[in-house]
Amino acid sequence: MESEYTLFNLDEGPIGVFDSGYGGLTILNEIRKEMPQYDYIYLGDNARAPYGTRSFKVVYEFTVQSVEKLFKLGCPLVILGCNTASAKALRSVQRYYLPRYAPDRRVLGVIIPTAEVVGAMSRTHHIGVLATQGTISSESYNMEIAKQEPDAVVTGLACPMWVPIIENGEADKPGADYFVKDSIDKLMAMDPLIDTIILGCTHFPLLMDKIRKYVPEHVKLVPQGKYIARSLQDYLRRHHEMREKITMGGSCTYYTTEQADKFQESAALFLNEDAQNLDVHHVDLRGMI
Ligand code: DGL
Repeated sequence: MESEYTLFNLDEGPIGVFDSGYGGLTILNEIRKEMPQYDYIYLGDNARAPYGTRSFKVVYEFTVQSVEKLFKLGCPLVILGCNTASAKALRSVQRYYLPRYAPDRRVLGVIIPTAEVVGAMSRTHHIGVLATQGTISSESYNMEIAKQEPDAVVTGLACPMWVPIIENGEADKPGADYFVKDSIDKLMAMDPLIDTIILGCTHFPLLMDKIRKYVPEHVKLVPQGKYIARSLQDYLRRHHEMREKITMGGSCTYYTTEQADKFQESAALFLNEDAQNLDVHHVDLRGMI
């Protein structure tokens, strides 16, 4: 039977960063600060966001379509800048898809690098995780943190309203306050000993001002970008065969499944950049597989 996927050789090209929408920009931003010398391609599947309530099968299919697109655009290495895709699709992508279709390319996620650093940040060893329904029900954070800190008590809460608020440009509007406060109060009531909260969805730092407002002062907030950037830097230091395949020019090109001008405007706000400086293209992922 003919394969539904394309076979990829290892090419030179940019680092690909993928998310269901705007959230991965918080990861891209930190990666670019740490390693401005490389070229990057960002892909946001905004037209099909949010992924948070979708099934394993659908998240896997959408993730493979996006990874394939980034491979076709030449990326030797793709970061899933999305916890939901990291929780629900990464393992299958690494175990089944890559060995068959792109054995020399790599796809990395955001959960393990976060789980590796969070234990050391908590004094009480009571850690909270705010994320999408998909990430929470996968229990990926509980499992990965337990590997590093077997004594840690991890309490997760799904915040299903937060991603739609951000994708719809409502993050700084007063209506968002209700949903942010409600989820934080619920999490702290579930375990009042929590002293560290992982923002386990890459969209959530875009609500940072409001989150800070409602989190008790002694509680540490952990957005992931910085840790993902450091972990990637370390990975590239250890894998020279991959490092040598990443092109250097400092460029960044953006692709979205939504309208390019809509993405350009919102992404510019999130990145604090002039919209005209963002090179944005529309892409259609349907029919990729
Ligand atoms: N930003 C993503 C995450 O980190 C996905 C949000 C969504 O599409 O629901 O989980």
